Amino acid sequence: MADLIAQSILRDEDKLINLALELKKQRNAVVLVHNYQRPEMFKIADYIGDSLGLSIKAAETSADVILFCGVKFMAETAKILSPEKTVLLPNLDAGCSLADMATVEKLEEIRKIHPDAAVVSYVNTSAEIKAMSDICCTSANAVEIVNSLPNKRIIFLPDKNLGRYVQQRTDKEVILWDGYCFVHDKLNVDMLMDYKNRYPDAKIIAHPECREDLLNLADHICGTGGMAKFAKLDGSKNFIVVTECGMTEKLRQDVPEKNFLSFCNICPYMKSTNLPLVVRSLVRNVHEINLPEDIIINARKAIERMLKVSIKKD
Ligand code: 13P
Ligand code: SF4
Repeated sequence: MADLIAQSILRDEDKLINLALELKKQRNAVVLVHNYQRPEMFKIADYIGDSLGLSIKAAETSADVILFCGVKFMAETAKILSPEKTVLLPNLDAGCSLADMATVEKLEEIRKIHPDAAVVSYVNTSAEIKAMSDICCTSANAVEIVNSLPNKRIIFLPDKNLGRYVQQRTDKEVILWDGYCFVHDKLNVDMLMDYKNRYPDAKIIAHPECREDLLNLADHICGTGGMAKFAKLDGSKNFIVVTECGMTEKLRQDVPEKNFLSFCNICPYMKSTNLPLVVRSLVRNVHEINLPEDIIINARKAIERMLKVSIKKD
């Protein structure tokens, strides 16, 4: 009985995938998917990647519609970079509690206290915050972005763990914001230590949104885009992947010759997009992301400054 149910679920999944692919063609849509999404979303993707790669793709595409399988700040970034296009987010509840921790009022207050400091905002922020920032960054380029600025002092928001990671790798004075990603911040160092004792030959790859004590155990720290690169090049066969749970699935697809163990939490926002919602989004044109023009103009400056630094580096 369980087998029959599983088979019929898979048949339904195939039907939804075919329907989504057909609708994509009809609407001349490009589907951008973050690494943390459900694995079935990878099957309808034109591009799967990290926040930096997704921003680059959103700026480059010639499609009429960008459908974002990720969270709201990512879809907003796509709209900021391609304002003439229709940008769709299948589920409006796909927010980000880290992004919500940076408010306009608090940033205004901190800017008054440190008027000489540059404002560097992680892409995990609202469009309004980006519009108030000098430059954006992602987990893949945060250190380079901070070091690229002429200012000696940097207001870094909203993730204090990523901010501390940057602080330890720059001569600049980094003023931290009291924000965190609960998915990464609640991963426990003692439990990771137990895991490592059970698999002593496995290398630990951790996301910089994790706490400092946990990062101290890592063999390699990087954003989701750097994880496959490291696993491919490193001589080890086994890896413990410390981030959101979806990443392990993606690494198993990208680097099938290596073994990946998960030490992770699930992000409910990332997992709130599914195939039926994607189909509904393409049929009904929901939920369309729209932003005020002045926000687009100012936020675009901050994102384009980031892309200039990162693309120059590549
Ligand atoms: P990256 O893919 O840029 O590492 O970001 C991780 C993340 O938390 C996205 O929400
Ligand atoms: Fe936000 Fe954390 Fe989820 Fe990324 S993993 S979307 S930072 S809550």
